[in-house]
Amino acid sequence: MDHFTYRGGALFAEDVPLAAIAASVGTPVYVYSAATLTRHFDQFRQALAWTDHLVCYAVKANSNLAVLRLLGGMGAGMDVVSGGEYARARAAGVPGGRIVFSGVGKTRAEMRAAIEGGIRQFNVESENELAALSEIAVSMGAAVPVAVRVNPDVDARTHAKIATGRSENKFGIPIARARQVYAAAARLPGLRVVGIDMHIGSQLTELEPFRQAYAKMADLCRALRADGHAITRLDLGGGLGIPYRRDNAAPPLPVEYGAMVRETVGDLGCEIEIEPGRNIVGNAGVLLASVIWTKRGEGRDFLILDAAMNDLIRPAMYDAHHDIVPLRQRPAGAPVAPVDVVGPVCETGDTFGRGVDLPPLEDGEIVAFRSAGAYGAVMASEYNSRPLVPEVLVSGERFAVIRPRPGIEEMLARDRIPDWL
Ligand code: LLP
Repeated sequence: MDHFTYRGGALFAEDVPLAAIAASVGTPVYVYSAATLTRHFDQFRQALAWTDHLVCYAVKANSNLAVLRLLGGMGAGMDVVSGGEYARARAAGVPGGRIVFSGVGKTRAEMRAAIEGGIRQFNVESENELAALSEIAVSMGAAVPVAVRVNPDVDARTHAKIATGRSENKFGIPIARARQVYAAAARLPGLRVVGIDMHIGSQLTELEPFRQAYAKMADLCRALRADGHAITRLDLGGGLGIPYRRDNAAPPLPVEYGAMVRETVGDLGCEIEIEPGRNIVGNAGVLLASVIWTKRGEGRDFLILDAAMNDLIRPAMYDAHHDIVPLRQRPAGAPVAPVDVVGPVCETGDTFGRGVDLPPLEDGEIVAFRSAGAYGAVMASEYNSRPLVPEVLVSGERFAVIRPRPGIEEMLARDRIPDWL
């Protein structure tokens, strides 16, 4: 459930008409609902209320400082994958003791910065990384908590570009070699091996792949304990999907996920960490765009918007679907006709949807892309020299610009022309 609903024929975010935000900030613009964010975070907390746990929000899904402050203020931990994300979490006020550091290619500088600033745990993905982390920890006189990310070789049954738990993927160490790697880790100075980590993919719409992976994790946990390792934490990763189409069967709810976690690993007495991103923020955001104009093509009509693939790349990159709805609601049964919804960028891939059934829209009319809160603004670029898309946060009747739209001058001012040109 989200807080984007029609009231009196106009689409609202909580108690704010989206048209008012568009009028004040312009389009394209991302708008997030604080109530939806907190509701989704709470659902995960409740789903794991049966055990010691920490919900570590995956910062990559939406890393705006205001979003991190909101979640951090509720007690969320954070899952970060770069020095930049670590710095964002800290700048938003999240203590290092609630931050886990994941990622297949952490640099030594990133490791050092996180140890210096405080860290709950490194999720280590290779033997080389273990060795480097050990060296750095020793040089800093630290004992660093570590979980090893294990690749369970299960099929997450999601889009190939966001599946991470098959043996052919670059992530984690093969589960068959896990005991060996843990033995090596235990011998390395400066490291405290505390847990096992997994993340098998994103936008999973069924529990079965998780169940298979977590069953393997439970077996591994028992084997590692038998080998003498004190495993006290299990990091189960993120990945629970969200409904992108209103008319589709919805993926399992956090509460069902939590029950499955209890069934598969609940008897091990470990503290449970999870790293949801999309599920917390995805349906808490919309992207507003204005119609520049419509255009008659050969056998099809185009709806040309002022948002483009540089603002929301998911359709171009993953063939992702986002529902597109006008801010001004039409009466039930009003006529619709198929249009190709496109942006102004000079690529055919700059297409948000083909044959989308929409009512006739006027030039200047505003539409909302639903479910755009996750992997939307964070993946935006300035391609075609289009300034970065701004972001707004709504809470009740209030709204605030949490990232302003840069001016064109500002964009140009970042470049330097060498004096020999
Ligand atoms: N933990 C790790 C180690 C991850 O790599 C990810 C996502 C997550 C947690 C959070 O997964 P989530 O709960 O959000 O599914 N840009 C793509 C999604 C990439 C996901 C990458 N890893 C998209 O727009 O669909």
